[in-house]
Amino acid sequence: MATVNAETITQIVLAASTGGPDKRVRKIMTSLVQHLHAFTRDVGLSEAEWAEGIKFLTRVGQFTDERRQEFILLSDVLGLSMLVTSQSNEKPAECTEATVLGPFYTSDAPKFANGDDISGAASGDPCFVSGTVKGPGGRPVPGARLEVWQADDDGFYDVQLGEAANARGIFTSDTDGRFSFRSILPQSYAIPHDGPVGDLLKILGRHPWRPAHLHFKIEAEGYERLITHVFRSDDPYLDSDAVFGVRASLIADWVRHPPGCAPEGTILSVPFYTLAFDFILNPVGGDR
Ligand code: BEZ
Ligand code: FE
Repeated sequence: MATVNAETITQIVLAASTGGPDKRVRKIMTSLVQHLHAFTRDVGLSEAEWAEGIKFLTRVGQFTDERRQEFILLSDVLGLSMLVTSQSNEKPAECTEATVLGPFYTSDAPKFANGDDISGAASGDPCFVSGTVKGPGGRPVPGARLEVWQADDDGFYDVQLGEAANARGIFTSDTDGRFSFRSILPQSYAIPHDGPVGDLLKILGRHPWRPAHLHFKIEAEGYERLITHVFRSDDPYLDSDAVFGVRASLIADWVRHPPGCAPEGTILSVPFYTLAFDFILNPVGGDR
């Protein structure tokens, strides 16, 4: 029988874990055990510290339910989500970069026609968004499915408020690849921080804020799926996003307009904003 001690334990665990049929799972678990053990040795983790760690992870699980995904938040604030996103979405420089999905995506958003207003009961300054979905070289991509979602003026998503869909919707790009909709001006907001992940941020001396953004998930036949945001260029948190999701190429200007005639011919008695942003998708398997 092998002697189990601080030197031999890693090899003993790895030797015991070679039997599973899935090669990829074996590779991932071997590396995970090696890195976890290396981390434990590196910091000289004590029994009391690991008991705290278990307590923390237990609270993360207890905070997670249909409306709140504390594990995604943990992955986000540790930069793990952004690392996975970055290494999974390498593409030509011309293509729109990806960023984190976040915990507030829902797959059952209502469908709208281009030009429609998705704000519903969400409060905020009126905002008109338009753009084109393109492929490399600027070729328009008609028939692309665009899913859009954003927080309201108070920084909350409909799903956090337990509401029906507000400020989220699904569009299809037209024959010229164009899309357009009315919504509200996004504002910076704090990620949920009344749970263990918020406690962790506090211990680390970090704030919970994300710069104002609009979420997009774009799918079109023959192209890689794109999950991304567009960020407001005047936001004070661009350099300190709590989840490290900002990429310079995704920052855009929302232009403020005085009351008057808005896109689609709407007459507004309040100031409104416009955003124009084009997305360039990466063809599956190279250029088409
Ligand atoms: C979001 O942008 O919706 C989000 C991303 C990561 C954590 C919390 C929120
Ligand atoms: Fe968001």
